Amino acid sequence: MSAEPRTLITDDWEVSGAIYRDPEIFDLEMEQIFSKTWVYVGHESEIPEGGDYKTAHIANQPVIVSRSSDDGGISVMFNRCRHRGSAVCQQETGNSNFFRCSYHGWTYSSAGRLVGVPFDDGYGEGFDKSAFGLVHVAKVESYRGFIFASLSDEVPPLEDFLGHARVYLDHISEVGEDGIELSAQGHKVAFRGNWKLQIENTIDPYHFSFTHQSWLDILKDRNDGKSSPWVKNVRTNESWRGVNLENGHAVHEYGALEGAKEGDSHAIAIGDLIPFNLNVFPSLAFVGAHLRLVVPRSVDETWVYLYPIFPKGADEETRNRILRDHEIFYGPSGFGSSDDIEVAFDRVTRGLEATRSSSDFALMRRGLHRETTDPQTGLKVGRSADEVPQRAFLGRWREMMEEGK
Ligand code: FES
Ligand SMILES: [Fe+2]
Repeated sequence: MSAEPRTLITDDWEVSGAIYRDPEIFDLEMEQIFSKTWVYVGHESEIPEGGDYKTAHIANQPVIVSRSSDDGGISVMFNRCRHRGSAVCQQETGNSNFFRCSYHGWTYSSAGRLVGVPFDDGYGEGFDKSAFGLVHVAKVESYRGFIFASLSDEVPPLEDFLGHARVYLDHISEVGEDGIELSAQGHKVAFRGNWKLQIENTIDPYHFSFTHQSWLDILKDRNDGKSSPWVKNVRTNESWRGVNLENGHAVHEYGALEGAKEGDSHAIAIGDLIPFNLNVFPSLAFVGAHLRLVVPRSVDETWVYLYPIFPKGADEETRNRILRDHEIFYGPSGFGSSDDIEVAFDRVTRGLEATRSSSDFALMRRGLHRETTDPQTGLKVGRSADEVPQRAFLGRWREMMEEGK
C-alpha cells in the first residue's frame, strides 16, 4: 500500500486517488471494514417461504441467505462445500429444501446441516456428519425485515449499529400499511470502477443536474416546457439538507418538492413515497423508492443490485407505477443508471489513472465551512449539494481502516 490511511484522507478532506485504485487498500477494506461490521444481505420479503434462498457477498465471501424449510429460520452460510470446496448453490435466487453439491453429491439441508454423503463408508465408522455442515457466519439479525449479517462476533447489536438511520428505515418500512416487499426482486449492474464511487454518488444531489441533464430535458418536455423544481431546490431550498447520521450512515432529505403537481412525473414518482436518499454504511442505499445493494468484487469491479420497493400487497396500479418509475431511470435502458456508469464511475476511474498529477486527490470539502449542528439531534447537517454525506461515509471508512493500526 502506498500510504497509511491517515494520509489517504487528510483532515481538510483531500481524498487520495489511491483509495479508488490500490488493490492492497481494497484487501484492507475487506478485512478492516466488511469483515468487522454488519453488512446488509437481503430483505425478508425476498425469501418469504421455507426453502427460499438468495446468494450474496460479505467481504467478497460468497454466502447463501436461506430460510429453513423445517422451521422458517434464516441462516447465512458460506457457499462452500465442506468436502473440497465447491460452491453448493449456483443460482442468485430460488427455492430448494436441499443444497446438493454437484461435484461429489454431498447434500445439505436448507439450514446447512450435512444430511447426505454418497458412499459414506469411505470415511470410516466415527464420521460425524454433524461436524461438517455448511459454516454459518458469526451473526445474523433483522431490523424491520432488513437482514444484516456479520463475519465478526464483536459487532454491536444491530439496532445500535443502525442508530440514527433507524428512523428512516422505519419510514421506508411504513410506506405500506403492512410493511414493504421487494417482490419484483432486483436487477444487477456491473461496472469497472471502485465500489466507493457508487456509494458517494448515491447521495449526491450536486451531480444531478449535470450528469442527468438529458433526463431533466425530457421531464421539461413532458411538463409543457416547465423545468423540474429539483435543480432550484438543490441550490436554494434550505429545508433540503444532508445529515451525517454517524456510524458512516447519512441521509439527504428533500421533503415535498416545491411546485410539484400532477404531471411532474419525477416529483410525483419519487417525492410522495420516500422523500430522502439514505446510505447505510458500508454498502446499502435507498434512492427514493429504490433499494440499492453495492457489492465490491475487486478494486475496480463493482456489482450493484437495484430493487423497486413496493408497499406490501400494493394494488396493480401502484406496483406498475413504481415499476415503470424504476425502469425509466434505473432500468437497463433507463435514463439514469447509464449516465452514472459513464460519467460518475467510468470517467472518474479513467481520470484517476493520472497518478502523476500533482493533485492526485478528490476534493471532498464542499460545504465544510457552513456545516452546522442540528440543535435537536446534535447531528452535523449541511446544504443539499454539500458533501456532508460523503464525509460521513469516508470519515467512518477512515476510522475503521485505522483501527488496530
Ligand atoms: S466438493 Fe462438494 S461434494 Fe465434493
Ligand atoms: Fe446519478
